[in-house]
Amino acid sequence: MRIEDKKVLATLRDLGVELKSAASLMDITYLGIGGTTDLLRLTRHESIPEVVKLLEANGIPFKFLGGGSNLLVADNELPWVVMQLAQPDPDVVIEGNIATVDAAADLGKTVTLCAKHDLGGMEGLIGVPGTVGGALRMNAGAYGIQIGNYVREVKVYRGGARIIEILKGDQISFEYRHTSFAPDDMMLAVKLELPSKPFREILQGIRICNEKRRASQPLGQKSAGCIFKNPPGASAGRMIDELGLKGLGVGDARVSDRHANFFVNAGKASAKDMLALIADVRERVQKAYGFELENEVVVWNA
Ligand code: EPU
Repeated sequence: MRIEDKKVLATLRDLGVELKSAASLMDITYLGIGGTTDLLRLTRHESIPEVVKLLEANGIPFKFLGGGSNLLVADNELPWVVMQLAQPDPDVVIEGNIATVDAAADLGKTVTLCAKHDLGGMEGLIGVPGTVGGALRMNAGAYGIQIGNYVREVKVYRGGARIIEILKGDQISFEYRHTSFAPDDMMLAVKLELPSKPFREILQGIRICNEKRRASQPLGQKSAGCIFKNPPGASAGRMIDELGLKGLGVGDARVSDRHANFFVNAGKASAKDMLALIADVRERVQKAYGFELENEVVVWNA
């Protein structure tokens, strides 16, 4: 979708929005899949309510993008524009045990920066790609740690009420790969309260998690991490593996040979290929185990 109205373009500029026309989501998402649309990068986060108002008044549909690491986007020209927060400098401010982190900050870099200030707890999240905002919305987790455990406060744009709100950690529910945020809420910043730990000790934890990840996940390939959530008490990856589905493909979309719950783009996979592979694997698991696997990856259908 293209924004062509000169007035709208001028107002967006006034609101601190950098517009990249005809951006390819293929170049932005970690899966390397996705069509084309206008990308609106917000340099002033507090202008979100006005930007949304402007788009709505002009009948321009939009979606909020985090880091694009857990996202499968439809092919071809997309029927909505995409908004993304530009990264401020600095994006992490540390005072005592509290790290105030912008939603656009890179999660891995945030974990490392906190470690350098002797703040630990998030070691397991080190290899999780994407932004802090995306991690927060999904309650990203790995190796027994989930980001929700450390959230003291969140600054969020509420899509429903169209206002910016500050929520206390206990006003938000964090569950396995799920939070109480609404789909049209946009994370803006978070205050994390982290336990004090010597840097060396944190580094040791980070090394162990990195090694585990390298040994079990296809890190160098285009993927969105795990495609399915684990059903309670079971492992989607193990089930798919047990069915002998590693290497199964539709076009260039493949079940990883390394970890069966990672689906990779081995070349020029389309969203159509990836969605067909997801549907096929879901059906086979349903038939064999009676589990209806739920997507962990976020899908933006057109
Ligand atoms: N397994 C297999 N074959 C496979 C993959 C896994 O037999 O192809 C077995 C493993 O040997 C292990 C069990 O299944 O006994 C669980 O595997 P793993 O430890 O890799 O963890 P997982 O449950 O598959 C979860 C998260 C990952 C996270 C890891 C590490 C989900 C859906 N996945 O994977 O998160 O990195 O634990 O904590 O919760 C993600 O969310 O995108 C993601 C990758």
